Amino acid sequence: MIISALKSSDQKDLRSPIHPDTISALIDLGADVFFEHGIGEGIFTSDMDFENLGLKSSSREDCIASSDLVISNQPLSSEEVKSMKSGATLLGMVNPFSNQELINCCAENKINLVSMEFIPRITRAQKMDVLSSQANLAGYSAVIESSRHLSTALPMMMTAAGTLKPARVFIIGVGVAGLQAIATAKRLGARVEAFDTRDVVEEQVNSLGAKFVKIDLGETGETDQGYAKELTPEQIIKQKDLQSEVCARSDIVITTAQLFGRPAPQLIDSKTIDKMKPGSVIFDMAVESGGNVEGSVVDEVVIKNGVKIIGVSNLASSVSGHASLALSNNFNHWICDFYDKDTSSINFDFEDEIVKSSVIAFDGKILNERFQ
Ligand code: NAI
Repeated sequence: MIISALKSSDQKDLRSPIHPDTISALIDLGADVFFEHGIGEGIFTSDMDFENLGLKSSSREDCIASSDLVISNQPLSSEEVKSMKSGATLLGMVNPFSNQELINCCAENKINLVSMEFIPRITRAQKMDVLSSQANLAGYSAVIESSRHLSTALPMMMTAAGTLKPARVFIIGVGVAGLQAIATAKRLGARVEAFDTRDVVEEQVNSLGAKFVKIDLGETGETDQGYAKELTPEQIIKQKDLQSEVCARSDIVITTAQLFGRPAPQLIDSKTIDKMKPGSVIFDMAVESGGNVEGSVVDEVVIKNGVKIIGVSNLASSVSGHASLALSNNFNHWICDFYDKDTSSINFDFEDEIVKSSVIAFDGKILNERFQ
Protein backbone atom coordinates (compact mmCIF):
# COMPACT_ATOMS: atom_id res chain seq x y z
CA MET A 1 0.00 0.00 0.00
CA ILE A 2 1.26 3.47 -0.84
CA ILE A 3 0.39 6.08 1.78
CA SER A 4 0.99 9.79 1.18
CA ALA A 5 0.78 12.60 3.71
CA LEU A 6 0.01 16.08 2.42
CA LYS A 7 1.24 19.44 3.63
CA SER A 8 -1.54 21.70 4.85
CA SER A 9 -3.00 23.75 1.99
CA ASP A 10 -3.84 26.54 4.46
CA GLN A 11 -0.74 28.65 5.13
CA LYS A 12 -2.03 29.53 8.59
CA ASP A 13 -2.22 25.86 9.55
CA LEU A 14 1.31 24.88 10.59
CA ARG A 15 0.35 21.33 11.60
CA SER A 16 1.54 18.20 9.83
CA PRO A 17 -0.47 14.96 9.62
CA ILE A 18 2.74 13.00 10.20
CA HIS A 19 5.28 13.45 12.99
CA PRO A 20 8.78 11.99 13.39
CA ASP A 21 7.94 10.54 16.82
CA THR A 22 4.89 8.62 15.60
CA ILE A 23 5.75 7.68 12.01
CA SER A 24 7.09 4.21 12.92
CA ALA A 25 3.49 3.02 13.30
CA LEU A 26 2.99 3.41 9.52
CA ILE A 27 6.47 2.19 8.53
CA ASP A 28 5.93 -0.97 10.62
CA LEU A 29 2.86 -1.82 8.54
CA GLY A 30 5.21 -2.37 5.62
CA ALA A 31 3.58 0.49 3.69
CA ASP A 32 5.50 2.79 1.35
CA VAL A 33 5.09 6.20 2.95
CA PHE A 34 5.51 9.36 0.88
CA PHE A 35 5.12 12.95 1.99
CA GLU A 36 4.72 16.29 0.24
CA HIS A 37 7.91 18.38 0.17
CA GLY A 38 8.11 20.76 3.12
CA ILE A 39 5.43 18.98 5.14
CA GLY A 40 7.33 19.47 8.40
CA GLU A 41 8.22 23.17 7.99
CA GLY A 42 5.69 24.24 10.63
CA ILE A 43 7.06 21.77 13.19
CA PHE A 44 10.76 22.34 12.51
CA THR A 45 11.20 18.96 10.83
CA SER A 46 13.05 18.89 7.50
CA ASP A 47 12.39 16.62 4.52
CA MET A 48 15.71 14.95 5.33
CA ASP A 49 14.58 14.19 8.89
CA PHE A 50 11.60 12.29 7.48
CA GLU A 51 13.73 10.63 4.77
CA ASN A 52 16.12 9.38 7.44
CA LEU A 53 13.13 7.64 9.04
CA GLY A 54 12.40 5.73 5.82
CA LEU A 55 9.89 8.05 4.09
CA LYS A 56 10.16 9.41 0.55
CA SER A 57 9.46 13.00 -0.42
CA SER A 58 7.51 13.90 -3.54
CA SER A 59 5.46 16.67 -5.12
CA ARG A 60 1.87 17.23 -3.97
CA GLU A 61 0.58 16.17 -7.39
CA ASP A 62 2.51 12.89 -7.38
CA CYS A 63 1.54 12.12 -3.78
CA ILE A 64 -2.15 12.53 -4.63
CA ALA A 65 -2.03 10.68 -7.96
CA SER A 66 0.00 7.66 -6.92
CA SER A 67 -1.39 6.72 -3.50
CA ASP A 68 -3.83 4.16 -2.19
CA LEU A 69 -4.32 6.25 0.94
CA VAL A 70 -3.92 10.03 1.22
CA ILE A 71 -3.74 11.64 4.67
CA SER A 72 -4.50 15.34 5.01
CA ASN A 73 -5.43 17.71 7.82
CA GLN A 74 -7.24 20.00 5.34
CA PRO A 75 -9.82 19.25 2.64
CA LEU A 76 -8.58 18.63 -0.93
CA SER A 77 -9.93 20.56 -3.93
CA SER A 78 -12.25 18.78 -6.36
CA GLU A 79 -9.51 18.87 -9.01
CA GLU A 80 -7.17 17.10 -6.61
CA VAL A 81 -9.77 14.46 -5.75
CA LYS A 82 -10.31 13.82 -9.46
CA SER A 83 -6.59 13.13 -9.87
CA MET A 84 -6.62 10.37 -7.20
CA LYS A 85 -6.62 6.71 -8.25
CA SER A 86 -10.11 5.24 -8.46
CA GLY A 87 -10.68 3.13 -5.34
CA ALA A 88 -8.13 5.09 -3.27
CA THR A 89 -8.98 6.48 0.16
CA LEU A 90 -8.80 10.04 1.46
CA LEU A 91 -8.46 10.11 5.25
CA GLY A 92 -8.54 13.49 6.86
CA MET A 93 -10.06 16.49 8.51
CA VAL A 94 -12.26 17.56 5.63
CA ASN A 95 -14.73 19.91 7.34
CA PRO A 96 -17.64 17.95 5.84
CA PHE A 97 -20.41 20.40 6.78
CA SER A 98 -18.83 23.06 4.55
CA ASN A 99 -17.65 20.72 1.81
CA GLN A 100 -20.58 19.00 0.14
CA GLU A 101 -18.81 19.44 -3.22
CA LEU A 102 -15.82 17.43 -1.99
CA ILE A 103 -18.10 14.65 -0.75
CA ASN A 104 -19.98 14.52 -4.09
CA CYS A 105 -16.71 14.54 -5.97
CA CYS A 106 -15.34 11.62 -3.92
CA ALA A 107 -18.47 9.57 -4.61
CA GLU A 108 -18.49 10.41 -8.34
CA ASN A 109 -14.83 9.40 -8.68
CA LYS A 110 -15.04 6.28 -6.46
CA ILE A 111 -12.75 7.76 -3.81
CA ASN A 112 -13.44 6.46 -0.31
CA LEU A 113 -13.73 9.41 2.05
CA VAL A 114 -13.01 9.02 5.75
CA SER A 115 -13.91 12.11 7.75
CA MET A 116 -12.09 12.16 11.07
CA GLU A 117 -14.70 14.65 12.32
CA PHE A 118 -17.15 11.73 12.40
CA ILE A 119 -15.17 9.46 14.71
CA PRO A 120 -17.86 8.30 17.17
CA ARG A 121 -17.67 9.35 20.81
CA ILE A 122 -17.04 5.83 22.17
CA THR A 123 -14.21 4.78 24.45
CA ARG A 124 -12.51 2.58 21.83
CA ALA A 125 -12.34 5.50 19.40
CA GLN A 126 -10.90 8.12 21.76
CA LYS A 127 -7.40 7.48 20.40
CA MET A 128 -8.65 8.56 16.94
CA ASP A 129 -10.72 11.55 18.05
CA VAL A 130 -9.17 14.52 16.23
CA LEU A 131 -11.83 16.94 17.48
CA SER A 132 -10.86 16.17 21.07
CA SER A 133 -7.10 16.11 20.56
CA GLN A 134 -7.15 19.48 18.81
CA ALA A 135 -9.79 21.07 21.06
CA ASN A 136 -7.71 20.20 24.10
CA LEU A 137 -4.70 22.10 22.73
CA ALA A 138 -6.92 24.92 21.48
CA GLY A 139 -8.32 25.35 25.01
CA TYR A 140 -4.79 25.71 26.34
CA SER A 141 -3.83 28.18 23.59
CA ALA A 142 -6.93 30.32 24.18
CA VAL A 143 -5.83 31.03 27.76
CA ILE A 144 -2.23 31.74 26.77
CA GLU A 145 -3.31 34.06 23.92
CA SER A 146 -5.89 35.85 26.09
CA SER A 147 -3.40 36.44 28.87
CA ARG A 148 -1.02 38.11 26.41
CA HIS A 149 -3.69 40.74 25.75
CA LEU A 150 -4.34 41.64 29.41
CA SER A 151 -2.46 44.43 31.11
CA THR A 152 -2.38 42.38 34.32
CA ALA A 153 -0.91 39.04 35.42
CA LEU A 154 -3.07 35.99 36.10
CA PRO A 155 -1.87 34.82 39.53
CA MET A 156 -2.22 36.66 42.81
CA MET A 157 1.13 38.07 43.92
CA MET A 158 1.88 39.47 47.35
CA THR A 159 4.89 41.66 46.86
CA ALA A 160 6.63 44.47 48.74
CA ALA A 161 5.24 46.74 46.05
CA GLY A 162 1.69 45.76 46.83
CA THR A 163 -0.78 42.91 46.49
CA LEU A 164 -1.74 42.05 42.93
CA LYS A 165 -5.19 40.49 42.64
CA PRO A 166 -5.64 37.31 40.60
CA ALA A 167 -7.36 37.64 37.24
CA ARG A 168 -10.94 36.43 36.97
CA VAL A 169 -11.59 34.06 34.06
CA PHE A 170 -15.03 32.93 32.89
CA ILE A 171 -15.28 29.92 30.57
CA ILE A 172 -18.54 29.45 28.66
CA GLY A 173 -18.89 25.90 27.33
CA VAL A 174 -17.15 23.13 29.21
CA GLY A 175 -16.44 20.42 26.65
CA VAL A 176 -12.92 19.27 25.84
CA ALA A 177 -11.60 22.79 25.06
CA GLY A 178 -13.37 24.38 28.02
CA LEU A 179 -12.01 21.84 30.49
CA GLN A 180 -8.46 22.42 29.28
CA ALA A 181 -9.00 26.18 29.39
CA ILE A 182 -10.15 25.89 33.02
CA ALA A 183 -7.18 23.69 33.92
CA THR A 184 -4.72 26.05 32.22
CA ALA A 185 -6.16 29.20 33.79
CA LYS A 186 -6.14 27.50 37.21
CA ARG A 187 -2.50 26.44 36.75
CA LEU A 188 -1.67 30.07 36.00
CA GLY A 189 -3.34 31.13 39.22
CA ALA A 190 -6.55 32.75 37.96
CA ARG A 191 -9.93 32.62 39.72
CA VAL A 192 -12.05 30.60 37.34
CA GLU A 193 -15.81 30.33 36.83
CA ALA A 194 -17.52 28.26 34.15
CA PHE A 195 -20.92 27.50 32.67
CA ASP A 196 -22.36 24.87 30.33
CA THR A 197 -25.90 23.94 29.40
CA ARG A 198 -25.09 20.29 30.12
CA ASP A 199 -25.35 20.22 33.91
CA VAL A 200 -23.41 16.92 34.04
CA VAL A 201 -20.25 19.01 33.76
CA GLU A 202 -20.75 20.77 37.10
CA GLU A 203 -18.83 18.03 38.91
CA GLN A 204 -15.96 18.23 36.37
CA VAL A 205 -15.73 22.01 36.81
CA ASN A 206 -15.62 21.66 40.59
CA SER A 207 -13.02 18.91 40.42
CA LEU A 208 -10.69 21.32 38.61
CA GLY A 209 -11.05 23.82 41.42
CA ALA A 210 -13.25 26.22 39.44
CA LYS A 211 -16.75 27.44 40.31
CA PHE A 212 -19.74 26.31 38.25
CA VAL A 213 -22.11 29.19 37.54
CA LYS A 214 -25.67 27.99 38.03
CA ILE A 215 -28.09 29.34 35.43
CA ASP A 216 -31.49 27.68 35.32
CA LEU A 217 -32.57 27.47 31.68
CA GLY A 218 -35.23 24.80 32.11
CA GLU A 219 -34.80 21.64 30.06
CA THR A 220 -31.39 21.41 28.31
CA GLY A 221 -29.39 18.21 27.79
CA GLU A 222 -27.12 16.33 25.43
CA THR A 223 -27.32 14.01 22.41
CA ASP A 224 -26.33 10.33 22.51
CA GLN A 225 -22.88 11.42 21.26
CA GLY A 226 -22.43 13.76 24.24
CA TYR A 227 -22.99 16.98 22.24
CA ALA A 228 -25.18 19.77 23.61
CA LYS A 229 -28.76 20.05 22.41
CA GLU A 230 -29.65 23.38 20.78
CA LEU A 231 -31.37 25.87 23.07
CA THR A 232 -34.61 27.63 22.17
CA PRO A 233 -34.35 31.37 21.34
CA GLU A 234 -36.02 32.12 24.72
CA GLN A 235 -33.41 30.04 26.57
CA ILE A 236 -30.58 31.84 24.76
CA ILE A 237 -32.02 35.24 25.76
CA LYS A 238 -32.24 34.07 29.38
CA GLN A 239 -28.68 32.68 29.32
CA LYS A 240 -27.28 35.92 27.86
CA ASP A 241 -29.04 37.95 30.48
CA LEU A 242 -28.06 35.84 33.49
CA GLN A 243 -24.42 35.34 32.52
CA SER A 244 -23.80 39.00 31.68
CA GLU A 245 -23.07 39.82 35.35
CA VAL A 246 -20.36 37.14 35.40
CA CYS A 247 -18.87 38.57 32.19
CA ALA A 248 -18.91 42.06 33.73
CA ARG A 249 -16.75 40.97 36.66
CA SER A 250 -14.33 38.90 34.53
CA ASP A 251 -10.99 39.94 33.08
CA ILE A 252 -11.05 37.15 30.50
CA VAL A 253 -14.11 35.46 29.02
CA ILE A 254 -13.44 32.44 26.83
CA THR A 255 -16.35 31.07 24.82
CA THR A 256 -16.17 27.52 23.45
CA ALA A 257 -19.84 26.71 22.81
CA GLN A 258 -20.38 24.60 19.71
CA LEU A 259 -23.29 22.63 18.25
CA PHE A 260 -22.12 19.69 16.12
CA GLY A 261 -22.91 20.34 12.45
CA ARG A 262 -24.72 23.63 13.11
CA PRO A 263 -23.62 27.25 13.54
CA ALA A 264 -22.41 28.09 17.03
CA PRO A 265 -24.92 29.93 19.26
CA GLN A 266 -24.38 33.65 19.80
CA LEU A 267 -24.02 33.99 23.57
CA ILE A 268 -22.42 37.39 24.10
CA ASP A 269 -23.97 40.45 22.51
CA SER A 270 -23.09 44.12 22.57
CA LYS A 271 -25.23 44.71 25.69
CA THR A 272 -22.99 42.35 27.66
CA ILE A 273 -19.80 43.74 26.10
CA ASP A 274 -20.88 47.25 27.14
CA LYS A 275 -21.04 46.07 30.77
CA MET A 276 -17.47 44.72 30.71
CA LYS A 277 -14.39 46.55 31.99
CA PRO A 278 -12.10 48.33 29.48
CA GLY A 279 -8.96 46.21 29.11
CA SER A 280 -10.80 42.93 29.55
CA VAL A 281 -10.62 40.23 26.89
CA ILE A 282 -13.20 38.02 25.19
CA PHE A 283 -11.74 35.07 23.31
CA ASP A 284 -14.25 33.55 20.86
CA MET A 285 -13.17 29.97 20.24
CA ALA A 286 -16.22 29.38 18.04
CA VAL A 287 -15.32 32.23 15.67
CA GLU A 288 -14.78 29.85 12.73
CA SER A 289 -18.22 28.25 13.05
CA GLY A 290 -20.28 31.42 13.26
CA GLY A 291 -19.04 32.84 16.55
CA ASN A 292 -20.34 32.99 20.13
CA VAL A 293 -19.63 36.70 20.35
CA GLU A 294 -21.25 39.57 18.47
CA GLY A 295 -18.63 41.34 16.38
CA SER A 296 -15.89 38.73 16.58
CA VAL A 297 -13.87 38.33 13.36
CA VAL A 298 -11.62 35.45 12.31
CA ASP A 299 -7.95 36.32 12.86
CA GLU A 300 -8.64 39.81 14.16
CA VAL A 301 -8.66 41.61 17.48
CA VAL A 302 -11.71 43.86 17.47
CA ILE A 303 -11.85 46.52 20.21
CA LYS A 304 -15.27 47.60 21.46
CA ASN A 305 -15.50 50.07 24.37
CA GLY A 306 -11.97 49.06 25.36
CA VAL A 307 -12.84 45.34 25.41
CA LYS A 308 -10.68 43.20 23.13
CA ILE A 309 -12.64 40.58 21.18
CA ILE A 310 -10.26 37.96 19.80
CA GLY A 311 -10.88 35.34 17.11
CA VAL A 312 -8.09 33.03 15.93
CA SER A 313 -8.35 30.40 13.19
CA ASN A 314 -6.67 27.01 13.53
CA LEU A 315 -5.97 27.68 17.18
CA ALA A 316 -4.35 24.29 17.83
CA SER A 317 -1.81 25.23 15.16
CA SER A 318 -0.28 27.77 17.57
CA VAL A 319 1.21 24.72 19.33
CA SER A 320 1.85 22.98 16.02
CA GLY A 321 4.38 20.46 17.35
CA HIS A 322 2.07 18.93 19.93
CA ALA A 323 -0.97 19.35 17.67
CA SER A 324 0.82 17.38 14.92
CA LEU A 325 1.96 14.70 17.35
CA ALA A 326 -1.61 14.18 18.55
CA LEU A 327 -3.12 14.45 15.07
CA SER A 328 -0.68 11.95 13.56
CA ASN A 329 -1.41 9.51 16.39
CA ASN A 330 -5.15 9.89 15.67
CA PHE A 331 -4.61 9.17 11.96
CA ASN A 332 -2.21 6.28 12.63
CA HIS A 333 -4.65 4.59 15.00
CA TRP A 334 -7.41 4.65 12.39
CA ILE A 335 -5.09 3.23 9.72
CA CYS A 336 -3.53 0.55 11.95
CA ASP A 337 -6.87 -0.61 13.37
CA PHE A 338 -8.35 -1.16 9.91
CA TYR A 339 -5.26 -2.25 7.97
CA ASP A 340 -5.40 -5.82 6.75
CA LYS A 341 -1.86 -7.26 6.54
CA ASP A 342 -2.94 -10.18 4.33
CA THR A 343 -4.25 -7.96 1.55
CA SER A 344 -2.07 -4.90 2.35
CA SER A 345 -5.15 -2.70 2.20
CA ILE A 346 -7.77 -1.08 4.39
CA ASN A 347 -10.50 -3.44 5.54
CA PHE A 348 -13.72 -1.43 5.33
CA ASP A 349 -15.71 -3.48 7.82
CA PHE A 350 -19.05 -1.71 7.98
CA GLU A 351 -20.07 -3.83 10.97
CA ASP A 352 -17.52 -1.79 12.92
CA GLU A 353 -19.04 1.30 14.53
CA ILE A 354 -15.97 3.44 13.82
CA VAL A 355 -15.87 2.56 10.11
CA LYS A 356 -19.63 2.94 9.81
CA SER A 357 -19.55 6.39 11.35
CA SER A 358 -16.37 7.87 9.85
CA VAL A 359 -16.62 6.65 6.23
CA ILE A 360 -18.76 9.19 4.43
CA ALA A 361 -18.33 8.01 0.85
CA PHE A 362 -17.47 4.50 -0.32
CA ASP A 363 -17.30 2.75 -3.68
CA GLY A 364 -19.18 5.48 -5.50
CA LYS A 365 -21.89 6.07 -2.90
CA ILE A 366 -22.44 8.69 -0.19
CA LEU A 367 -23.14 6.65 2.94
CA ASN A 368 -23.85 9.35 5.49
CA GLU A 369 -27.50 10.40 5.18
CA ARG A 370 -26.74 14.02 6.08
CA PHE A 371 -24.82 14.44 2.83
CA GLN A 372 -26.96 12.41 0.40
P1 NAI B 1 -18.42 20.86 21.55
O1 NAI B 1 -17.13 21.33 20.97
O2 NAI B 1 -19.48 20.39 20.62
O3 NAI B 1 -19.04 22.07 22.44
C1 NAI B 1 -18.29 22.69 23.45
C2 NAI B 1 -19.14 22.84 24.67
O4 NAI B 1 -20.10 23.89 24.46
C3 NAI B 1 -19.95 21.62 25.06
O5 NAI B 1 -19.61 21.24 26.37
C4 NAI B 1 -21.40 22.07 24.96
O6 NAI B 1 -22.23 21.47 25.94
C5 NAI B 1 -21.25 23.56 25.22
N1 NAI B 1 -22.39 24.39 24.82
C6 NAI B 1 -23.20 24.30 23.73
N2 NAI B 1 -24.13 25.27 23.76
C7 NAI B 1 -23.89 26.02 24.88
C8 NAI B 1 -24.50 27.17 25.45
N3 NAI B 1 -25.57 27.75 24.91
N4 NAI B 1 -23.97 27.65 26.62
C9 NAI B 1 -22.91 27.07 27.21
N5 NAI B 1 -22.30 25.99 26.71
C10 NAI B 1 -22.79 25.46 25.56
O7 NAI B 1 -18.20 19.73 22.66
P2 NAI B 1 -16.96 18.76 22.87
O8 NAI B 1 -15.87 19.48 23.52
O9 NAI B 1 -16.65 18.11 21.59
O10 NAI B 1 -17.49 17.69 23.92
C11 NAI B 1 -18.85 17.43 24.20
C12 NAI B 1 -18.89 16.29 25.23
O11 NAI B 1 -18.46 15.06 24.66
C13 NAI B 1 -18.01 16.52 26.45
O12 NAI B 1 -18.69 16.12 27.58
C14 NAI B 1 -16.86 15.59 26.24
O13 NAI B 1 -16.26 15.20 27.45
C15 NAI B 1 -17.55 14.44 25.55
N6 NAI B 1 -16.59 13.63 24.81
C16 NAI B 1 -16.66 12.27 24.90
C17 NAI B 1 -15.76 11.47 24.21
C18 NAI B 1 -15.82 9.99 24.32
O14 NAI B 1 -15.14 9.32 23.62
N7 NAI B 1 -16.63 9.43 25.16
C19 NAI B 1 -14.72 12.06 23.37
C20 NAI B 1 -14.76 13.50 23.33
C21 NAI B 1 -15.66 14.24 24.02
